[in-house]
Amino acid sequence: FDVSWDAAAAEKGGWASFMAKEVAEQPEAVANTIRGRVQDGEVVIPELDGLDDLFVGINRVIITACGTASYAALVGKYAIEQWARVATDVELAHEFRYRDPVIGDDTLVISISQSGETMDTLMAVKYARERGARTLSICNTQGATIPRESDAVVYTHAGPEVAVASTKAFSAQITALLLLGLHMGRVRSVLTDTAAVAELASLPEKIASVLEKENDHVTQLANWMADTRSVLFLGRHVGYPIALEGALKLKEISYIHAEGFAAGELKHGPIALIEPGQPVFVIVPSPRHSALIHSKVVSNIQEIRARGARVIVVAEEGDAAVLPFADEVIHIPLAGAMFEPVLAVVPLQIFAMALATAKGLDVDQPRNLAKSVTVE
Ligand code: G6P
Repeated sequence: FDVSWDAAAAEKGGWASFMAKEVAEQPEAVANTIRGRVQDGEVVIPELDGLDDLFVGINRVIITACGTASYAALVGKYAIEQWARVATDVELAHEFRYRDPVIGDDTLVISISQSGETMDTLMAVKYARERGARTLSICNTQGATIPRESDAVVYTHAGPEVAVASTKAFSAQITALLLLGLHMGRVRSVLTDTAAVAELASLPEKIASVLEKENDHVTQLANWMADTRSVLFLGRHVGYPIALEGALKLKEISYIHAEGFAAGELKHGPIALIEPGQPVFVIVPSPRHSALIHSKVVSNIQEIRARGARVIVVAEEGDAAVLPFADEVIHIPLAGAMFEPVLAVVPLQIFAMALATAKGLDVDQPRNLAKSVTVE
C-alpha cells in the first residue's frame, strides 16, 4: 500500500502550477482588495481614517517600486492624476534613491511592493522619509518591513503569491491604486467621477469573464507560437504599462526576447524592428473613452500590419475597427478607461504561462529570478 503525498501538488489545489492558480484567483484577489472600502457610493479606506493630511496640501506624488509593481505604479499615475488632480510621477526605487530628488513635506511618496521586503523599495521609502516626504505603502504582506517604515499602509488582499512571476498581486495593486485615487479625489474635494466608484463592484466578474472566454484561445495561440523568438507589445495611455507588463511576463518565464513600447514611440524607432511575421500584441483602448486615442492605436496597427507584422489585438468586445487589421483578436468586456488594464493584462499572463509551458519550462521558478529581492 503506497500513498505518495506531494505537499506542493496539494497546495496547488489541482492546478498545474502556482502561477496558473494565482492567475485564476484574480477575481477573488481583486474582490478582496475592494471589500469594505466602498460605503454609500464612496470609496472610504478605513486604514486611512484620520490621515487626510497625507493627501491635502501636497503638490506632488511620487510612486516608487520595482519590477511588476512599477508597472502597476504607472497605471496609478493616470488614475491619481485624473481623480485626485495632483501631479504624479513614477520612479523605479533604485533610481530614486541614488539621485537628489526634489522632495519635501509637500510630497507624498507611495511605495508598492507585494512582499514588502524589496530592499531597493525599502531604502527609497527611508530616503523619502529622511527628506521629510509623507509616505504610504501599498503592500500584500501584513506586517512587512516597508509598511512598518511608512506613515500609512493600504494592504492588497491578494492572498499569498508563490509563483515568482507576479500576477494576482499586480491586479490587486492596480485595484488598490484605483481605490486610493478615488479616496484621494474625495478627500481633496475634486472627485466628480461617481461612475468609477460604482464600477468597482463589477471588476471581479469582468476578470472572471476574460478568464473563462479567452483562456483556451490564448493557450492555443501560445502553443502555435512556441518557437517564437521575439514578441513586441504596444499600448497607449493605461495600455502602455500593460504592454510593459506583458513583455516582462514573457521575459521572466519564457526566456524569449520581448519588449513593450508606448504605441506613439513606434515611428521613433521600434517600427524598424518590424519584419514579416514579427508577432506584436497591441492593447487597444476603448473608442468609447476617447475616439482620438483609439484611432491613433488603429493607425499604429495599420502601420505595422503593412510591414508584415502578425498582429494580436486585445480589444473591447464589439470593437469592429480593429478586425480588418488583426490576425487574432482577444476580447475584454466593456469597462471604464482606468479599469481596462486589469482586464487586458489577464490574456498576456495566460500567454506567457502557456508559452513557457509549451517550451517545457518551470513557470513557477524561472531561472535566475527570486520572488523577493532583499539584497541591493
Ligand atoms: C522581484 C520579483 C518580481 C517583483 C519584484 C518586486 O523581482 O521577481 O515579480 O515584481 O521583485 O517585488 P515586490 O515584492 O517589491 O513587489
